[in-house]
Amino acid sequence: MEPVKIGILGLGTVGCGTISVLVRNAEEITRRAGREIQVVQAAARSLKKKRDCDTSGIVLTDNPEDIVTNPDIDVVVELIGGYEPALDLVMKAIENGKHVVTANKALIAVHGNEIFKAAQEKGVMVAFEAAVAGGIPIIKAIREGLAGNRIEWLAGIINGTGNFILTEMKDKGRDFADVLAEAQQLGYAEADPTFDVEGIDAAHKLTILAAIAFGIPLQFDRAYTEGISNITREDVSYAEQLGYRIKHLGISRRVGDRVELRVHPTLIPERRLIANVDGVMNAVLVKGDAVGPTLYYGAGAGSDATASAVVADIVDVVRTLTTDPTNRVPHLAFQPDALADLSIMPIDDVETSYYLRMQVQDKPGVLADITRIFGEQGISIEALIQKEPAEGANVVPLIMLTHRIAEKKMNSAIAQLEALDAIEGKIMRIRCEHLDSNWT
Ligand code: NDP
Ligand code: HSE
Repeated sequence: MEPVKIGILGLGTVGCGTISVLVRNAEEITRRAGREIQVVQAAARSLKKKRDCDTSGIVLTDNPEDIVTNPDIDVVVELIGGYEPALDLVMKAIENGKHVVTANKALIAVHGNEIFKAAQEKGVMVAFEAAVAGGIPIIKAIREGLAGNRIEWLAGIINGTGNFILTEMKDKGRDFADVLAEAQQLGYAEADPTFDVEGIDAAHKLTILAAIAFGIPLQFDRAYTEGISNITREDVSYAEQLGYRIKHLGISRRVGDRVELRVHPTLIPERRLIANVDGVMNAVLVKGDAVGPTLYYGAGAGSDATASAVVADIVDVVRTLTTDPTNRVPHLAFQPDALADLSIMPIDDVETSYYLRMQVQDKPGVLADITRIFGEQGISIEALIQKEPAEGANVVPLIMLTHRIAEKKMNSAIAQLEALDAIEGKIMRIRCEHLDSNWT
């Protein structure tokens, strides 16, 4: 049989990783796919840059249009990133009858609905395993491996850069900016690293996971997004004293006929496996009604790890090239005409427990004021740490863990607390989830 011909858009961290893995494991990949896979053309901005992979035998171009219009190419692999020109190129590739593989979560989370519609009409595949959690085959696990379950919730560490930063801060006391620079140098970070540290990248990924878990359209604009840039070393240390770790989590949960979709730093009991996922590693917990909680772990970013997922998608496309297009696994796991109309819950209605850190004046009656405000909002305290004042200081840090309460009630309590003369500055608030198997 003729080899399947691939065109690659982008020769950066993932593009070069993909070429290297395809070359290194060519024999085994051919045995799995049933056909030889040949990279015939690749595009990058600059043709002068030295590449981290062997591009001999590949026709290079600085015009990606050459690839999406090349009649010899069967599969276009988009590894440029961002919205444009990636969207235009992917739509042109589909229009020209090419199957598409992409690692671009921003593109899928924001434009996936229109991309899948065009692909469906054209009878081509769009595969995006590498878009979520790097090398972990989480899309396949949810879409295929858990197809017998009603998914109840999922929660994951889904940004490698963010987890790398939090881990280095915790273990080595390193500075945020210094660790971020290292993550960029290692090829983990997005072209715009604020996507990593402000939670946008994780929200892109969570949007995709929620769609395939609950059978809903992609709704990135409804995701609540909070990053890690406000987390201090003190918070990490207080959380540890309380028996928790701070992790940046994406959480999506079915509650009645609505779905939570939120990304924020979260305290997790240190005994949970996911609390011990460190460095660039990612992990996703998925709770299905039949299987119970399941956990998927692996490298969340990096050249070879991401290439592993890209190549798996290429193999899937090659395997299905000869099968009936209407019987392929649907893009969002559920049949396109069977998507559910579940609305996304506003963050105000979401219930979690909370870690709060505030600077309070060291005088009688302050705690009574705080508990009165909590009492009025129905907030109950689970644990409390009050530190000794520093030499000569009259304010002390007060750290609290609360039981679960709706976000709007906590917002109201925090506003009232911050208005008290006895509380100085802003209150640090981090949501806390226990992620135990009884959570429904
Ligand atoms: P890089 O920045 O390393 O590579 C991007 C590549 O695209 C470069 O080779 C660049 O060319 C090329 N490029 C950019 N604009 C154009 C253009 N207009 N025409 C032609 N080529 C262009 O990015 P990554 O490899 O890190 O990321 C690629 C995708 O994979 C992104 O969507 C990212 O989110 C995703 N991803 C990345 C992971 C990682 O660990 N890095 C993990 C999972 C997903 P040149 O080199 O000449 O500048
Ligand atoms: N910037 C992303 C991360 C790459 O750090 O997780 C993998 O999607």
